[in-house]
Amino acid sequence: MIIFGALGDLSRRKLLPAIYELMHQHLVDEQFQVLGVGRDPGQTDDTFREQMRQALSASDEVGRFDEALWQDLCTRLHFVSADLTDAGDYAAIGERLTQIEAKCPPEQRNRLFYLAVPPSVFEPIVTNLSKSGLAPRTRTADGRPWARIVVEKPFGRSLESAQHLNALLLSMFAEHQTYRIDHYLGKETVQNVLVLRFANSIFEPIWNRQWIHHVQITAAETVGVEERGKYYEEAGVVRDMFQNHLLQLLSLTAMEPPAQMSANAVRDEKVKVLRSVRWLTPDAIPDNAVRAQYTAGAMDGKQVPGYRQEKDVAADSNVPTFAAVRLFVDNWRWNGVPFYLRSGKRLARRESEIAVQFRSPPHLMFGHLTREAMRPNTLVMRVQPNEGVALNFEVKVPGAAVALTSNIEIAPVDMEFDYANAFGEVSAPAYETLLLDVMIGEATLFTRSDEVEAAWRVIDPLIQHWEANPPKRMPGYAAGTWGPREADELIEEDGVEWREP
Ligand SMILES: NC(=O)c1ccc[n+]([C@@H]2O[C@H](COP(=O)([O-])OP(=O)(O)OC[C@H]3O[C@@H](n4cnc5c(N)ncnc54)[C@H](OP(=O)(O)O)[C@@H]3O)[C@@H](O)[C@H]2O)c1
Repeated sequence: MIIFGALGDLSRRKLLPAIYELMHQHLVDEQFQVLGVGRDPGQTDDTFREQMRQALSASDEVGRFDEALWQDLCTRLHFVSADLTDAGDYAAIGERLTQIEAKCPPEQRNRLFYLAVPPSVFEPIVTNLSKSGLAPRTRTADGRPWARIVVEKPFGRSLESAQHLNALLLSMFAEHQTYRIDHYLGKETVQNVLVLRFANSIFEPIWNRQWIHHVQITAAETVGVEERGKYYEEAGVVRDMFQNHLLQLLSLTAMEPPAQMSANAVRDEKVKVLRSVRWLTPDAIPDNAVRAQYTAGAMDGKQVPGYRQEKDVAADSNVPTFAAVRLFVDNWRWNGVPFYLRSGKRLARRESEIAVQFRSPPHLMFGHLTREAMRPNTLVMRVQPNEGVALNFEVKVPGAAVALTSNIEIAPVDMEFDYANAFGEVSAPAYETLLLDVMIGEATLFTRSDEVEAAWRVIDPLIQHWEANPPKRMPGYAAGTWGPREADELIEEDGVEWREP
């Protein structure tokens, strides 16, 4: 495995811990080695190993730090310094790879290139990598040795740039060599959406416009922009969360059953959903989308600054840190069913979930109850934290009032499934799952080129419209709340409310 950007944040916080845990579970080969590549010319194998040791000891994704396991991993870590935008520096990488691979039979010299570098250098690096000959294009997915390239998100910053990057990648590598990562897809619940829907017979018959009133997809963060003000000013919430995570959750929720659980069958169905999403035309955007920025407020009893007061953020910035959007999937199954998507920073709780709300019963026979007083059934798939599923339904409150059927008291309760409780362990961090998938050539949880472009087609018009039309007054929401009043109004127009997870 060759990590480009091995001294960066992702490599330290996610990739190394994932490798360590995979080794802990005996899931990597005896011959597995890691070559870190970074710009710092002062680094050696030894200094790199020391930095990675520190990163692992500080990581909360690593269970107990096991010295013997570390000693095993340590000898497999190597470092070479290179400026990856300079084609001339690839010879040094090639030399180190040849030394490292010397003991392997030629057909086992598989190479996994992980681009943990800023998106601004994806293109020159992809070009240089291909031209260097270190990652030859292969015709079939089962040829040996293989070379695979993992490209981090964000994949482009617009439809046009994503198309451009895809064209470049596919002119140099085959689709089956290219793994576009969205770490949300590595989470258990996200995969469980498919199992829940297609391995059970009770949900699928009611999974349509006849029984489902609407779907709410939430990705709420409590953190602000922290040290990443510069990045966020370029990205904003729609690029950061909607283009990838939220649309992935929407397509898994809305897709038709694939013929089989194979990468292409699943991705074909997801692409069809994305292509069915009704276009957000400039006329439709004001009525169907809300943007906002967090203002100063209290989180966990501590006062925090507003977005415009954060480091590296312009004092008059119009970059949204919150958005809520009403989308429709214009196909046979979902006609007329709204999908409400929202995401924001500095919200009241860190919570990502898909909540499917069913229609109310057609006839209410419990005298005094109005339709509004009863909570409709909801199936909630929690993506993070506390990954699990809850089904909410109405029960009778025990008590003497039973005699008076007209006065029966009803209350909502949850039937709960929680991964940690049920299986006695917390789910593997997403990067562990995804890294193993790349190693074994399993691409179901990675985004195909047409899929990433279909997602951009949905969201790009919104970004374009908002960037071309700055708001007269950017709606605000105090840090620690559930978002702006305007987002409530958006959904209340339809007679529903946002859930407070
Ligand atoms: N961090 C996360 O949690 C996270 C989550 C999801 C996705 N991602 C994605 O993962 C990628 C990496 O993010 P990050 O947070 O790890 O960024 P980062 O901390 O800035 O690390 C990027 C690394 O790339 C190196 N690099 C940049 N240009 C280079 C060049 N020309 N040659 C060699 N090395 C070069 C940098 O080296 P120098 O130190 O020399 O500058 C740095 O070590 C980004 O695409 C990001 O969007 C990150």
